[in-house]
Amino acid sequence: MGNFITKAITRLVTFAYGLYSVCLYGYLATKRGTFFKKRTDRQNLELQLARDRLWNLSKDYAGLSHYFLTLPSGFKFHFVSNGAHGSPSALTSEKPLVIFIHGFPDSWAIWRYIATAPSLQSSANVVAIDLPGYGGTEGLEKYTATAVLEKLTELIITLRTQYGVDQGTETNKKRVIIVAHDWGCVLSMRLAAEAPSLAHRFILSNGPLMSLAGSNVRRIVASASKIFNTALAAPLSSRTPLLQALRTLGPVFRQLKMSGYVFAMQLPPTLVTYFLTGGNYSFMAGIHKGSHGRGEFTPSDEGTSMASSMGPSLAESKTQTAGGESYPSTIKYTHNFANVLHMAGYYRDGASVARWRKSVETVANLHSIAGGNELRRSNSGAGLLDEGTPGALQANSTVFWGQKDIALNPQICLDGMADYLVADSQVVMLTESGHFTPIEPESRVAMVKAVEWAIHGEKGDIGAVIQECYPSAKVIARR
Ligand SMILES: *[C@@H]1O[C@H](CO)[C@@H](O)[C@H](O)[C@H]1NC(C)=O
Ligand SMILES: *[C@@H]1O[C@H](CO)[C@@H](O)[C@H](O)[C@H]1NC(C)=O
Ligand SMILES: *[C@@H]1O[C@H](CO)[C@@H](O)[C@H](O)[C@H]1NC(C)=O
Repeated sequence: MGNFITKAITRLVTFAYGLYSVCLYGYLATKRGTFFKKRTDRQNLELQLARDRLWNLSKDYAGLSHYFLTLPSGFKFHFVSNGAHGSPSALTSEKPLVIFIHGFPDSWAIWRYIATAPSLQSSANVVAIDLPGYGGTEGLEKYTATAVLEKLTELIITLRTQYGVDQGTETNKKRVIIVAHDWGCVLSMRLAAEAPSLAHRFILSNGPLMSLAGSNVRRIVASASKIFNTALAAPLSSRTPLLQALRTLGPVFRQLKMSGYVFAMQLPPTLVTYFLTGGNYSFMAGIHKGSHGRGEFTPSDEGTSMASSMGPSLAESKTQTAGGESYPSTIKYTHNFANVLHMAGYYRDGASVARWRKSVETVANLHSIAGGNELRRSNSGAGLLDEGTPGALQANSTVFWGQKDIALNPQICLDGMADYLVADSQVVMLTESGHFTPIEPESRVAMVKAVEWAIHGEKGDIGAVIQECYPSAKVIARR
């Protein structure tokens, strides 16, 4: 009964806060004047042009071509790459494989500056994927941790095969690097913790390590309640301790305040759709405007950002790749923003925190790719028998953090991170950057540098390497 009541109260509070957030965002958009502003003809034209640039399958985007990969399980992923998967040149090339994974509300196109850098294209096989339910990749019924992580792992293992990573012998020195942002970061951190053999280095930006964030919240709440109980025991002198208890909770409150949109995503589907598309897309427009940091935001940038979120439209859905492939037939193009509820599914179905029940095939595949690598620290990949902090990253990782992130509180997301890293891992603070590190002009240069460093054998200290192009960058934790 108590459990039932707790659950009911949690749902009620979640609902109320979600609704409040929708109203708050609506109010702010109204105040900014974007809510009732109709999209101009110019904006619609830019969107249409951008959709053709990003999603027309017969077009290349600055050296990247469109490909589809249907997993053995039948699920169809869309990605862009500078080399055809499974082609003789991909299989035999000595080049490392770099896989880029985007977050909310984006697609492969958030990597349009980084994955097109000539220095990366000349020395690596670059692959930028669309997560399930985003861009041109098929959607899932439910975005549970198991559903999402199984698909992602199956994709990465297939990409490794088709770019010749696991074909080789011990002399095959091909490396795999996973670069991820926001939701891509959240999911990749889980991979680094629970399936570390997937990559030789993870480069991760501005997404919470949920195990660490959870532990920080519990620690803060426990210490506040201790202070609170002490105050109750001596009520006469309790004013200061009560204030102190509230102050201790500060980071949790600040994170809750920043997370209003996460609660809005828990509302009934019609309201979620309204939240994400209503008021002439003012929520999306606000995110995209902020994503360019201090850089300029031209009408063309606006169109490109919206096209990245919205994915292909009916027009592009009819295009084909050079190999004669087209977008999954399961995507419905009747709505101009076909994938909007899929994006919300990641927030609604527990993809970040719920248990990942690995299939037998996944366990076997992970074991097989770890086989040749004697440096693996976690041999089961199950994470259960591993020593140390639960949820800690088990693979070499470099975390980049845009310090001015308005969605993530650093005390919740970063305090104690060193305990969650293995040797040869670092946290680099990008002091001038916000949440959208792959887009903001300064941080995207830094991220290209980091990928170059990883591709070319990790020579030199990452802090020094980054400071060459981003002087104020600081390594704030390392193992
Ligand atoms: C982790 O990084 C270190 C230093 O770059 C390297 O020696 C080691 O082989 C890496 N481990 C794996 C599993 O790639
Ligand atoms: C969007 O713009 C149009 C045209 O100005 C306006 O009529 C409409 O109310 C706006 N807001 C919503 C919620 O659609
Ligand atoms: C896609 O691009 C091709 C080649 O540039 C062009 O001929 C075609 O009209 C485009 N398709 C659509 C639907 O825009």
